[in-house]
Amino acid sequence: MKNIDVVLKEALEYSRKYIDKGNVATYIPELAKVDKNMLGASIVTVEGKRYHIGDCQHEFTMQSISKTIALIYALEHIGSKIVFSKVGMEPSGDPFNSMAKLETKDKYPSNPFINAGAITVAGLIADKYEFEDYLAFTRRLCGRDSIEVDENVYKSESETGMLNRSMAFFMKNNGIIETDVEKTLEFYFKMCSVKVNTDDLSNYASILSYGGVEPKSGIRLIDKEVLIVTKSLMATCGMYDGSGEFAIRVGMPAKSGVGGGIIASAENKMGISVFGPALDVQGNSIGGYHFLEYLSKELGLHYFSGELAQKYRKKVI
Ligand code: DON
Repeated sequence: MKNIDVVLKEALEYSRKYIDKGNVATYIPELAKVDKNMLGASIVTVEGKRYHIGDCQHEFTMQSISKTIALIYALEHIGSKIVFSKVGMEPSGDPFNSMAKLETKDKYPSNPFINAGAITVAGLIADKYEFEDYLAFTRRLCGRDSIEVDENVYKSESETGMLNRSMAFFMKNNGIIETDVEKTLEFYFKMCSVKVNTDDLSNYASILSYGGVEPKSGIRLIDKEVLIVTKSLMATCGMYDGSGEFAIRVGMPAKSGVGGGIIASAENKMGISVFGPALDVQGNSIGGYHFLEYLSKELGLHYFSGELAQKYRKKVI
């Protein structure tokens, strides 16, 4: 494998060029204040080695990346039978905030990563658990006890999130959400407003890459079956209506957030987190996307790179 520090430098240089083509999220007023030129990344390998580049210490809100943690939490505490009686397992092909399909078919959100699906999952958790319980799990996965909610982003989102509010009431009307709507939304907006840096998220991503076990401690933090479900959904729905092209160009289960973060999991190799608040039209970090594409090519991280097959061939010949 090429030297990771060298590849990180090259990837930063390569992906910076795309920042101009993107824009920060403005529909959450607090997110519009951020400098769109920032770019940074962190890696934690399954051997526990850590690498950093660029704005890796800058804190940003998880936004939709939190939807993966909420899904894991719900699957482990509430169970897949109940979760998947409320949300589907299919890519929607629509933007992350679309509610179009809630009116058609069976009225269920297509998957737990679009806003409608994640709000539904948040409702299931909020019905039985305190937000602090969920936050403690987030802190454990990220490996940092001081992680908190960004109160300004939370307030900003809660005051302006009328589309999410409409979806939640619509789903309450259809019996998909059974918990109180405001309680559900408070949980959802809070989980989206948890403030992290790429170092935190790469710790979490490394657990996803290492079969649910944290590399540095050797402790299992995610159940094996839950991990398979979560990563499969990340691979098919993690980048919303950009998931198909991302699968071809990058080839890793991933999840983006409108705060500019993306996590990606290279199976049995490393967890990666990138941050760049300039977004493409699908709401995915444009610099982060190109950064991951570069890394995937240079380090052979694509899930269909054929690396394992080549190793196996060498053994049998
Ligand atoms: O509900 C929202 O719109 C945001 N809190 C989360 C959306 C998001 O991060 C979409 N991801 N790229």
